[in-house]
Amino acid sequence: MSKDTITLTDSRSGKKYDFPILDATLGPSVVDISTFYKDTGLFTFDRGYTSTASCRSKITYIDGDKGQLMYRGYDISYLAKEKNFVEVCHLLTRKKLPNEKEYEKYNAELKQFSYIRENMKALFDAFPEKAHPMAILSAGVMALSTFYFEDLQCAQGKCDVEHYNRIATRIVAKIPSIAAYSYRHFMGLPIIYPDLKKGFVENFLFMLRALPYGYCDIKPIEVKALDAIFTLHADHEQNASTTTVRNVGSTNAHPYAAISAGICALWGSAHGGANEAVMRQLRMIGSVDNVEKYIEKAKAKDDPFRLMGFGHRVYKNFDPRAKVLKKICNELIDEIGINSELVEIAHKVEKIALKDEYFVKRGLYPNVDFYSGLILEALKIPIDMFAVMFVIGRTPGWIAQWMELKEQPDVKIARPRQLYLGPKPIDI
Ligand code: SDX
Repeated sequence: MSKDTITLTDSRSGKKYDFPILDATLGPSVVDISTFYKDTGLFTFDRGYTSTASCRSKITYIDGDKGQLMYRGYDISYLAKEKNFVEVCHLLTRKKLPNEKEYEKYNAELKQFSYIRENMKALFDAFPEKAHPMAILSAGVMALSTFYFEDLQCAQGKCDVEHYNRIATRIVAKIPSIAAYSYRHFMGLPIIYPDLKKGFVENFLFMLRALPYGYCDIKPIEVKALDAIFTLHADHEQNASTTTVRNVGSTNAHPYAAISAGICALWGSAHGGANEAVMRQLRMIGSVDNVEKYIEKAKAKDDPFRLMGFGHRVYKNFDPRAKVLKKICNELIDEIGINSELVEIAHKVEKIALKDEYFVKRGLYPNVDFYSGLILEALKIPIDMFAVMFVIGRTPGWIAQWMELKEQPDVKIARPRQLYLGPKPIDI
């Protein structure tokens, strides 16, 4: 623990205040300002928390300048290439990559938990046919809490590790089934039950695509591509939806409420909804000849139009996930018929933007969403399901962050203050 401090001087009173510096294993140290208001009578102000560390965590590390992303110390490019999504789920939620025996046991638990209660089907039937799958998914996860009462007590931290692991495995296993069921409902198709002979990702594609009597065409290269997409999305430090999960968890709400809230936060086009927005935008651009026009539109100060899939709060260099996804995208163009015209447009957008002073000065590079939509479309995943794919990938990260919050002995309810600019007391 460093004894170093930061000294702040209030120019109005001349008073000086010392605040301790806490060192990180990697990356920036932090200034502990937990006594700031008590000491100074002032609040700090940090719109969008651009310079604020909200918690202590050992799960994921991002270096935005180097374009580095690690889950529990393992670089993302190694995990996406050498490990599968089930191993990454084990790494995130059980804190280690599984050995062969642990993998077999964990994989069997995921299969066992992949079924959802039969009476949950009534929930899907209650929605109109074209209900957005993200709405159904968020409601479906919340509905799980009405079946597993024994998990609700874990919200207060009164559970042993085995019980926390069981909840984590249950949620990671059931979300793909709820997602697949919501898609089948959206398409007006009968629900396809999990096939326990299939692996996690292949089973998900099976539940999405199979015809009622089991016929289903799934190529191994499709499974590999979707597995890598899930792995690349599995966690990402304290992003908006993870912060939502932690904030809900800090009130002692149960894990299903926290994950359901995370799904809602992820839905926004500035966050997990960007993969859907990228595809709609590439289609709107329509041809490589129109790219310059839209780049200029994205740069115009008074125009709210933004280049979807570009920019990131942390990465001021290439998002390492975008690098892996771009490689997968180029590999798959011929194999699974990715829409090469849209890829051409994406490549041109990237080529022009990366040389344009507006984007370079602001550190705006392709992020995880820029290429993922092209791959998902080639996997015949409908565009309304793109954000759902992000949810399936991110669930192990969310639940791992929730578990870490529950393990911490000094959790405080998330309750920031404000800069009040409203009316002074009105005399009545
Ligand atoms: C994800 O946080 C995470 O970790 C998220 C995520 C995860 O894994 O959880 O990585 C997943 O959400 C990726 C981001 C997906 N969203 C998009 O692709 C939507 C488009 N991008 C932007 O909306 C934006 O870049 C954000 C939201 C991603 C980041 O916004 P910031 O950090 O708050 O940056 P900002 O809005 O303050 O922008 C800084 C400047 C501004 O210009 P000036 O006011 O300085 O003149 O950059 C400009 C912005 O106008 N800018 C863009 C732009 N993104 C930022 N200009 C044009 N196009 C863009 N995409």
